[in-house]
Formats: sequence, structure tokens, C-alpha cells
Amino acid sequence: MARYQLRDRFYRMAQEKGLPSRAAFKLDELLSRYRLLKQGGHALDLGCAPGGWLAILAQAVSPTGRVVGVDLVSCPAPSPLVTVLVGDLRDKAVRQAAMLALGAPADLVTSDMAPKLTGIRERDRAAMSELLEAAATAALESLRPGGAFIAKTFVGTEFTEETKRVLSLFGSVHMTRPRATRKGSSELYMVALNFRQSGSV
Ligand SMILES: C[S@@+](CC[C@H](N)C(=O)[O-])C[C@H]1O[C@@H](n2cnc3c(N)ncnc32)[C@H](O)[C@@H]1O
Repeated sequence: MARYQLRDRFYRMAQEKGLPSRAAFKLDELLSRYRLLKQGGHALDLGCAPGGWLAILAQAVSPTGRVVGVDLVSCPAPSPLVTVLVGDLRDKAVRQAAMLALGAPADLVTSDMAPKLTGIRERDRAAMSELLEAAATAALESLRPGGAFIAKTFVGTEFTEETKRVLSLFGSVHMTRPRATRKGSSELYMVALNFRQSGSV
């Protein structure tokens, strides 16, 4: 019952605010908790469909910033400040197109990317590791010094050597579960702050 109520509350809130998904509340909470992204900022959102996080990011940078979202599937841009690109983030050309569309080094890179789950635990964890590495690579390629990186992962997902290397370039790394996360979900969010290196690809 409690589980149903939690899901229902965030679902209703999303509907009332005209947000395309309840996922938006997770990012909203992380942005305020870690004081990330200001007006005029630049953000890259990986795995952006159906657009809940894009709406929150556009609100945070408004009225003059810029947000670029990338996903395997298309979704509407919630504001003129947002550009949505369709592509596989593991593809370097797609990451380059996203950086070009952003037009400046990113203050924040967010990834809510998740693989299609098969129910086969080892396979799902491996797919998540691969997406996490692709997100970390995008962060490395596009963040400004001092920038931040937020990425979804699952409990038990191993970080590849490359992901660990990228994370070592941040001042601090935190693992957290926003309140809007469904009870029983193995979802976790990684928040990496104060990127200390730029332009090293
Ligand atoms: C949980 S949804 C994101 C929800 C979104 N943050 C929101 O607020 O509406 C995860 C998304 O990751 C995308 N995705 C998975 N693998 C991807 C990849 N290799 N490249 C780009 N997007 C990917 C999926 O298509 C899916 O839309």
C-alpha cells in the first residue's frame, strides 16, 4: 500500500506540473541538494526520453542557458533552450554532435540511461556498466573544470577501469537514492562534483 501511495504521489505531481515523467523529481532533488546548475548554464542530458529531466534542466538554466539531450528514441524539446538528438551515446560521433550542439563546455552532465532489462542479472549488470562508461566518457569529453556529473546506476553494477579513471578526476563522488525512487528499486544515483580536468579525451 505504501509503495502504491509513493508511486501515486509522484505520478500525480508530474501530471499536475505537466512533466512527462516522475523521473523529473529525482533530478530536481539532486540539483537542489548539491546546488548544481545556475541560470545561463550548459547541461548535457544522456538518455533524455521522454523528457522529464530536460524540463527540470531547462527550468534551471532559463532564461539564457542551453540544454542538449541525447536518446536512442526521440522526444519533444520542452523549451526553446533545449535541443534533442537521436543516437546511441556509445557512439563517439553522437557525443561529438551533442558537444557541438551545446556550443560550450558543460557545467553539468546527467545520465539517466538504462538498458532494456532482460531479467538476467549478469547481462543487465554488464549492459549498465557499459552505459555508465559511455556516460563517464561523455562527461570527460564535455565538462568544464569544476563541473558536475550525475549518473544512474544499479546496486551491484561494476564500474569499469575507464569509469573509475574518469571518477578519479572529480573532487568527490557520492552515491545516493532520491526520494522519488520507487521502493524496492535497485536504482542508485552517482553524483560526482568538482571535475578537475578538461579536454583530455
Ligand atoms: C529511464 S529513461 C530516462 C528518463 C528521463 N530521464 C526522463 O526524465 O524522462 C532511460 C533512457 O535511456 C535511453 N538509453 C538507453 N541506452 C541508451 C544509449 N546507448 N544511448 C542513448 N540513450 C540510451 C533509453 O532509450 C531511455 O529512454
